[in-house]
Amino acid sequence: MTHSEFTGEAMKAFREANTFGQEEFALWLNEQIGRKYDRNRISRWENGNESIPANVKLFLLDKASIAPRGTSIPAPVLIRTDGDKARAATKLAVVNQKGGVGKTTCTVNLGYLLASKGLRVLVVDADAQANATAYLGADGYALDQEERTLYHVILKDKPTADSIIRVCDGLFGLLPSSLRLSQADAELAADPNSNLLLREKLNEVEGEYDIIIIDCPPNLGHVTINALNCSDYVLVPVQTEPMAALGIPMLHDTLSKVKRRVNPKVEILGILPTMFAASHSVDQVVLGQIKELWGDRARIFTPIPSSTLYPQSSYAGQPTLMGEPKAAGAGSYHEVSDALIALMNEQRQGAANV
Ligand SMILES: Nc1ncnc2c1ncn2[C@@H]1O[C@H](COP(=O)(O)OP(=O)(O)OP(=O)(O)O)[C@@H](O)[C@H]1O
Ligand SMILES: [Mg+2]
Repeated sequence: MTHSEFTGEAMKAFREANTFGQEEFALWLNEQIGRKYDRNRISRWENGNESIPANVKLFLLDKASIAPRGTSIPAPVLIRTDGDKARAATKLAVVNQKGGVGKTTCTVNLGYLLASKGLRVLVVDADAQANATAYLGADGYALDQEERTLYHVILKDKPTADSIIRVCDGLFGLLPSSLRLSQADAELAADPNSNLLLREKLNEVEGEYDIIIIDCPPNLGHVTINALNCSDYVLVPVQTEPMAALGIPMLHDTLSKVKRRVNPKVEILGILPTMFAASHSVDQVVLGQIKELWGDRARIFTPIPSSTLYPQSSYAGQPTLMGEPKAAGAGSYHEVSDALIALMNEQRQGAANV
């Protein structure tokens, strides 16, 4: 469905399929996009007495994937063009200097979801803990012995393509990591020209991919800065626990510097609250704080609930959504992946119109 086809009737179908009354729908919409619409306004849009504002249409089209079966709003599909091979892949850094907030879990599940939606995906494990590598069933130690890891690519100038392996039944690519990457920060610090190394090395393969997702380590060191310097978008997973939101200002500050000095195109895709327990009042308070403090600067995605399925599947060596496509939080992952596809389509349409 296109923007112009999104009529009052389609909006009503979306609302009803999500079991919202008009009042509830207005409250939800206002919370999501920071407006003050009331139920009368919703009613006027639905019966065609007033046109739906463009921002509301765009937002609801983008939400399509969380609409249950039976609604007529399809999820966005990546626009393919003849120029795909020559196009630089879109790069997404998954960043938060706080540890254990869900970066790796987001990276592998998003990678899987985007690949299952038909995108050519490369996941880059940029963390010496090599969790994404293990999560995707690869053996970081063996790959290190073969000198086929991110460390060897960026610091020994090994060809990038030689280190990429196919994972998840060949669905997408992984540039793996190993403990050796822990040497990288010191080595990168010693070389003043090293902050664009990752960009340079990904450049070698990026015509092969639509999207490259970089799983960053829990710090704002040189490897993370390399990731920010080459990315189009940044996704910030934030655990909804009391201390978690405190790290966002420092990250925002770092990102502002990167944007000013090296990479003006980088944008925040959004903040993704993780491990959310709706029944815990403290989680609700933290989520409220995140929305209040950051809602006008970044999109706040629907929180991913806390679920034991996530640690279980990391142990099993495959993305949760691969074995459990309807796991709690699947809707949030669809929301993030569809937002990304919508932005990639905008870029592609913009480039086509130049
Ligand atoms: N929605 C969730 N519900 C419950 N547990 C989760 C959820 N998401 C992730 N986890 C678990 O939380 C732990 C930390 O997640 P993850 O490794 O993705 O975080 P991280 O930010 O990448 O950590 P690090 O900073 O160490 O790299 C893991 O054990 C993971 O399985
Ligand atoms: Mg991690």
